[in-house]
Amino acid sequence: MTVAQEVEQLYDEVRGCQRCTLARTRTLAVPGEGPLDSEVMFIGEAPGVNEDRQGRPFVGQAGAFLEELLGEAGLTRPEVYICNVLKCRPPGNRDPLPTEIEACSDYLSAQIRLIDPLLIVTLGRYSMSRFFPNQAISRIHGRPREANGRILVPMYHPAAALHQQRLRSVIIDDFRTLPELLERARASRAGGAEPAEEAPPAQQMKLFE
Ligand code: URA
Repeated sequence: MTVAQEVEQLYDEVRGCQRCTLARTRTLAVPGEGPLDSEVMFIGEAPGVNEDRQGRPFVGQAGAFLEELLGEAGLTRPEVYICNVLKCRPPGNRDPLPTEIEACSDYLSAQIRLIDPLLIVTLGRYSMSRFFPNQAISRIHGRPREANGRILVPMYHPAAALHQQRLRSVIIDDFRTLPELLERARASRAGGAEPAEEAPPAQQMKLFE
């Protein structure tokens, strides 16, 4: 099977997913979108009301701000891959539950394997904790780590930054570091760093010690 076929199969699976109770309340599942050869992957938290209606990630207000932030990084939406930790909307936009994150986890692992991005940007706490467990976003935002042959960088969630002036300038500054990080990630891959299967978080953290 080609990567494109595998991705289509994955999207079909997500759209019909019954792994947790969010299947009962969602309108549409939101697998993710972007070119399969994207160098940069953005991982948000979960679909909101607009995403749930359209089946696409980051199409509401937070999405408009994300596009503005991409511009700060010299990137455009059509060239990046965007997805979420949860593929279905939690009712009332409540926080994701651990059981829901666990049920959805394999989908994100498959996306990372198939897209194989050089740079992963986590947006918000839930996305951060998959790669940086037990860390505080206020402390580690914008600080890149190299793991499994890619660069990972945690950022605040655009929805949080949208309405708080202080965070807004912080997230803009963090996004402005992306071009340099992408250059570093390209050089590292060209120098032979092999992307590895996603390691369990505990093992990943060892790489950073
Ligand atoms: N917030 C997210 O985390 N993801 C979306 O897709 C939209 C808003």
